[in-house]
Amino acid sequence: MNRRHMRLVFFWILMVAIAWSALRLTVVEPKDPVQLGQALFSDPILSEDRSISCASCHIPEYAFSDTTALSKGVHGRLGVRNTPSAMNLLSRSHFFWDGRAATLEAQAIGPIENPVEMNLPIDSAVARLRADARYSRWFMEIYDEEPSVHLLTSALAAFEQSLETSSAYDRYMAGDEDAISESAKRGIEIFNVKGRCFECHFGPDMTGDEFRNIGLYDEIKYKDKGRFDQTKNPEDLGKFKTPGLRNVAVTGPYMHDGSFETLAQIIDYYDRPAHFLPHSMGRDTIFNTNLGLTDQEKLDLEAFLIALTADQFVHLLD
Ligand code: HEC
Ligand code: HEC
Repeated sequence: MNRRHMRLVFFWILMVAIAWSALRLTVVEPKDPVQLGQALFSDPILSEDRSISCASCHIPEYAFSDTTALSKGVHGRLGVRNTPSAMNLLSRSHFFWDGRAATLEAQAIGPIENPVEMNLPIDSAVARLRADARYSRWFMEIYDEEPSVHLLTSALAAFEQSLETSSAYDRYMAGDEDAISESAKRGIEIFNVKGRCFECHFGPDMTGDEFRNIGLYDEIKYKDKGRFDQTKNPEDLGKFKTPGLRNVAVTGPYMHDGSFETLAQIIDYYDRPAHFLPHSMGRDTIFNTNLGLTDQEKLDLEAFLIALTADQFVHLLD
């Protein structure tokens, strides 16, 4: 090889090296727990056959919820409950429809190990992250420690805690009179008074974090015992965690089993629950009298619920 050839080879090695490092820079390098949690949330590495990530069911474009009544986990296995939104959970005191996890960190182990979701023992998940050059480096850079159950769940929780949203309704409450329609304004009043929704859906995220039975338990069509599974207290049969209502217009299907398709259907149900489910068991006494909402009041109530949609999801509304 003469001098000229040597220079050419050197030149090409240099070019390839520059291209390689430029490419690597475009791969997002997590710099803090939130970004690391985001990477983990959308990485199928946490599932048995590396096919399912948290984001497969909690789809970011739909306010981190799923668009089907029940979601599919590994090997196409169908879950038994509807996937709730993973947003606006910062102030929640319980997680899952039956409240079986007290913290987001504890919650995160559930789906990873669940046989119909990701089906991977948590220690295997951690072992995979330790064996993965990128993750072991990222955990070191961010936490100065190797991946562990504690750090994996901390990162996922940190990401979820960053998913708080605000909406036109919040701008209205902050004094912007034009932020929502007149119909939605009337809807607020109906939500609080005539509709009695506020009895259970109150606070900044429209939930009191209590377990209540709205009538979706009859041991015929609705067999899920809900909170009872955790407490074994007969009073808890058919009680479910009152969900927050932010972004609810884009997170259907609804309820613990995804049996309601639209907000209009839900409002019709609340208007006269016994008409739809005459045999429901343990339904809250608040529903003993029908609401008697007019068609316009139902539309107003729906307009209010729609006004809880964050700007980034407004394009999903018809
Ligand atoms: C196969 C679909 C699926 C996957 C994958 C999945 N989830 Fe879920 N998620 C669900 C379902 C279904 C529920 C409700 C289960 C229940 O209440 O029993 C749920 C509940 C939750 C909740 C509770 C929300 C609330 O309001 O109480 C959080 C938080 C959550 N998941 C986060 C995660 C994280 C983090 C991952 C990844 C490690 C994940 N999920 C993976 C389907 C999934
Ligand atoms: C007694 C308490 C209570 C009252 C009153 C109540 N809710 Fe609910 N709400 C709940 C509970 C609990 C659930 C979950 C029930 C289930 O999954 O079985 C729920 C579910 C919902 C959902 C579905 C959310 C989702 O993500 O699946 C919507 C929407 C909703 N309620 C709106 C309303 C409106 C509007 C009113 C008033 C007309 C109202 N609620 C009155 C407790 C209540």
